[in-house]
Amino acid sequence: MQETKKLFIETLGCAMNVRDSEHMIAELNKDEAYTLTTSAEEADVIVINTCSVREKPVHKLFSEIGAFAKHKKAGAKIGVCGCTASHLGAEIFRRAPAVDFVLGARNVSKITKAVRTSKFMDVDIDYDESTYAFSDFRHSTHKAYVNISIGCDKQCTYCIVPHTRGEEISIPTALIVAEVEKAAAKGAKEIFLLGQNVNNYGRRFSGNEPKINFSGLLTRVSEVVGVERIRFTSPHPLHMDDEFLEVFASNPKICKSMHMPLQSGSTHILNQMKRGYTKEWFLDRAMKLRQMVPDVAISTDVIVAFPGESEADFEETMDVLEKVRFEQMFSFKYSPRPLTKAATMEGAIASEVASARLARLQGRHEQILDEIAGAQLGKQMQVYWEEAREEGMLAGRSFSNFLVQAPGDASLLGVTSLVRITNPRRLVLYGEVVA
Ligand code: SAH
Ligand code: SF4
Ligand code: F3S
Repeated sequence: MQETKKLFIETLGCAMNVRDSEHMIAELNKDEAYTLTTSAEEADVIVINTCSVREKPVHKLFSEIGAFAKHKKAGAKIGVCGCTASHLGAEIFRRAPAVDFVLGARNVSKITKAVRTSKFMDVDIDYDESTYAFSDFRHSTHKAYVNISIGCDKQCTYCIVPHTRGEEISIPTALIVAEVEKAAAKGAKEIFLLGQNVNNYGRRFSGNEPKINFSGLLTRVSEVVGVERIRFTSPHPLHMDDEFLEVFASNPKICKSMHMPLQSGSTHILNQMKRGYTKEWFLDRAMKLRQMVPDVAISTDVIVAFPGESEADFEETMDVLEKVRFEQMFSFKYSPRPLTKAATMEGAIASEVASARLARLQGRHEQILDEIAGAQLGKQMQVYWEEAREEGMLAGRSFSNFLVQAPGDASLLGVTSLVRITNPRRLVLYGEVVA
């Protein structure tokens, strides 16, 4: 019997990269058997699926390639895929001759050819994979990531993603629904819809497709038999119209957690970032959401120290934090990225100032999180168990996306239980299964 090849794949970045890695695994397995390994030393193929959104991970990439090259098996191939592949292209071969192939974030379907061709490179950001029906592979049987669009049209001035993933094209509804049906039939009760700008769905398809928007897509997905929970990321605050908020609020299968990437609370900075909304619009949408869905959890992304950000601008961001009291916040110091407009803007903020602002924002958010966690004591929540942890603990998410852990048997994986919260902590609510 022929031995199967071993594949080591490291996935950095966002959920879209997680799904791209699953697609690569699926495609590679189409006509050759691969098993996944967590040891790069024993792999026949090493793939790094990279992220380019901030500068630091890009620096780390080259030292990491060096380490893989030193310890890899003789003849093993090293591939750099994803967003950094898209934006650095051939420079990767120049800086790291040990790399065998470079495959951009929009060229995932070519992975088999990449592995089989010497010094293969394809980083075309105009390549259209929106109608490509990928083979099937998922890490989890309980939760299924499903792409609904590729690329991003927004051109936020700080962001490299439009330069790594190209223009935005929606995936045909029929393909999405077929994928959801397949995943649900295999036991995935939770569907996670993915795109850089999900609530812009339906604006442009690559062929002639029936007219539909994101609200319509959500309704279609919720009608699939077996689907119990629907999540999605990332929606854009600009496109949070009333219709969208109403579908979100009223559809009982849509999980009550909303990502609202703020970026900045200052309308002036939002303009500089080309986000397309004001502080007032953002607050109006967030407050309307809290009013329509009282138990909603709102998460956000914030960038501090964008070029030209004054103390007063930063105070506006702190003010939005006070008013919205996000249940989750991902915050970063602005990182200048090549190819972006902001990289050439004046008004760079000194790094100590940036660090101090980030620390203040995060410090205040931790206090808010402690208050939010404390308020969950004694509450009962429906938790969908996704993972068995050590010492007989199960981990899962409440309907509004709190991470919950409770003692329980692995037979509960893929099942939803009612849990009473007995020990709420900042990042995990501990509880006990009631029913
Ligand atoms: N499409 C998503 C974001 C994808 S990038 C959206 O619009 O929300 C994920 C997050 O990385 C962004 O929300 C932003 O907060 C952060 N980010 C992007 N570019 C950055 C940069 N140059 N410096 C620091 N953070 C950045
Ligand atoms: Fe980047 Fe803006 Fe597109 Fe998000 S919406 S991926 S931040 S350009
Ligand atoms: Fe990173 Fe690309 Fe996602 S830059 S955040 S992996 S879209």
